[in-house]
Order: sequence, then structure tokens, then C-alpha cells
Amino acid sequence: MEMCMGRLARLGYVAGALCFIVSCSFAVFYGVKVVSHKQPVEKGTQQKYKYHLVLVPEELDNEYWRLVEKGAQAAAKKYGVLLEYVGPKQANIDVHLKTIEMAAASKVDGIMTQGLDDQFTPLINRIVEQGIPVVTVDTDTVNSKRLAYIGTDNYYSGYLAGKAMIADTKGKANVAIITGSFYKNHQQERVKGFEDAVKSEKGIHIIDVEESEISRVRAAEKTYQILQNHPNVNAFFGTSALDGVGIAQVVEQYKKPGQIYIISFDTLPETLEYIRKGTIQATVVQEPYQMGYGAVKIMIDIINRKKVPSVVHTDTSILRAKDLPQIRKETGEGR
Ligand code: BGC
Repeated sequence: MEMCMGRLARLGYVAGALCFIVSCSFAVFYGVKVVSHKQPVEKGTQQKYKYHLVLVPEELDNEYWRLVEKGAQAAAKKYGVLLEYVGPKQANIDVHLKTIEMAAASKVDGIMTQGLDDQFTPLINRIVEQGIPVVTVDTDTVNSKRLAYIGTDNYYSGYLAGKAMIADTKGKANVAIITGSFYKNHQQERVKGFEDAVKSEKGIHIIDVEESEISRVRAAEKTYQILQNHPNVNAFFGTSALDGVGIAQVVEQYKKPGQIYIISFDTLPETLEYIRKGTIQATVVQEPYQMGYGAVKIMIDIINRKKVPSVVHTDTSILRAKDLPQIRKETGEGR
């Protein structure tokens, strides 16, 4: 932290240069496709930045993460932050970890990222020990030295999905779960929350759990396989943003309307369209914009030695077709 504070005074004029260093180093050192989307640094305007922060998402062009970025950029603008948004083009743990490592090597003022699995904990600890604060966003690694977490209570969100399914199916369903990953903390917590919510319901049976690797195409393939292998399946739960869309695509093709109940995650425009059409019955609403905005704000408080809460849970709720006019009013469309 000391190191970091000391550098702040100089930061105004070196920010642009650091930004360049971070982006280039990724490509040169690892020979992997790490893409950087940053605010354009106009010549002569570098002085306006007081802080240099990096946000490393699970998947750069995922619409969900674009909303996290949007919130973070809004806060960045307000607080004088040069914010870099860098990470794997497609979900990839190795690239994700290397991106975090390179951001730390570039001595930025703070790193916002997920704590996806056990490999993140020692890295986060090392970076924090070096004096660079880390805030986890969307997915926490509670046992690490990260200074704060902001995001969904992932266990609770899965639990809510389970309760919604019980209510909507009157407690009778043969359920297949498609999860983004068997190994990532947020996905495990969502599945666990769901299982706990339905475990005492005699009429709800979880008949299969498959993995989409955070890929909509893989989610569609797994759905097709499940329909083949389990003709009795009549409900799906998709635990990450692209799963519901993959499930819906296949269900529309092979099943009659109303045969299959689907509950998904997030409110991407395509998901809302499937809800409007009646293919997806419900979705778990997260607040990615708030996560991004809040993460930058928390980080600045940390840098300025203000006390911050260790955990900030953003809102989670269930959205069904009847709620769509409401969401349109509030957000102008999908969040
Ligand atoms: C999760 C993100 C994940 C995304 C993948 C969301 O539900 O919160 O962590 O990267 O799905 O599509």
C-alpha cells in the first residue's frame, strides 16, 4: 500500500505510459490473445487521471462483462481513474491468471477481478502483499487476502432459482442443470444453492448436471445430449449468462411450447427475448453495472485508506415475463 500511495503523486503523467506498457506486455510475454479495451488517452490529457486501475473479466466480450465494464467506466470517469479492461477473449483460466499477473507487474494502483478457483488465491495474496490492492468482483475467493468483494451472493442466487422452479412447476420437475463450470466458485455455489432449495421437494429430481465451459454453443450441445439421454427431462436450470440462451435454442427446435420449463441466469437481450416469447420462463437478475461501479468506488476508498466493508452483495431477484415492462422502464432493456 505504501508503495502504491507513493506512486500516486507521479501517476498523473505516467498513467498513459503504464497503460501502453500493460497492453503491450501481455501480448509479448505470453504469446496469447489478451485483448485490451481502454479509455483512449488523448495527448496532453494524462494529467487528469489520479489512479490507474485494471479490471480483468472472465470473458472480455461477454455482454454480461461489458455491463460490468460500463459501470466501472462510469465510476472511473467520476473519480479520475484511468481504467483498463483486459482479459481473455474467451473464458480461459491460464490467460486470466497471466493477465492479473502482468497488471501487477505493471504496478497499477489496484486490480479488480474474480476469484474463480484455488489458483487465484495464492496469486491474489502475493499481489496484495506487494502493496497492490485487489477487489474481487462477481466471484469471491473468501480465503484470500483480497480487500473486498462486490457481487452477487452466488449461493443465495442459486437458492432463489430453486425456489422459483418449485413455485413455477408446482413442485414437480425432472431437472437438468447446465453450469458454466464444475470447478469455478460462483458456478459451484449457484448449483449448491439450487440443490439445497429443492432437496426437500419430493417431486423435484435433478437428473443430470453438465458443463458449458461458459460457452453458449457448448450449452446448446449439452442440452441436445440431455434431451437424447433423458427423455423424461422437463426442466432446465442454466447457471451462467450464456447457458439459458443455448438451452432455449435447442428446446425451441426439438420440443413443443410448454413442454420444458427453463430458468436461466442474467438479463442479456437475447434472454429477455426468449422470456418474451415464452421459451424461458424465468431468469435470475444480477446487477453487473452496480458491481463495476461499486468495485471502482471501493478501490478508491481502499487507496485513500478509508474503511470498506469486506463483502458487498449486490441485489439478486427473479424475473418472469410479467416483469418485463418493469425492466424496460427501469433500464431501457437488458442489464
Ligand atoms: C456470471 C459471470 C460469467 C458469465 C458467463 C454470469 O452469470 O456471473 O461470472 O462470466 O455468466 O456468461
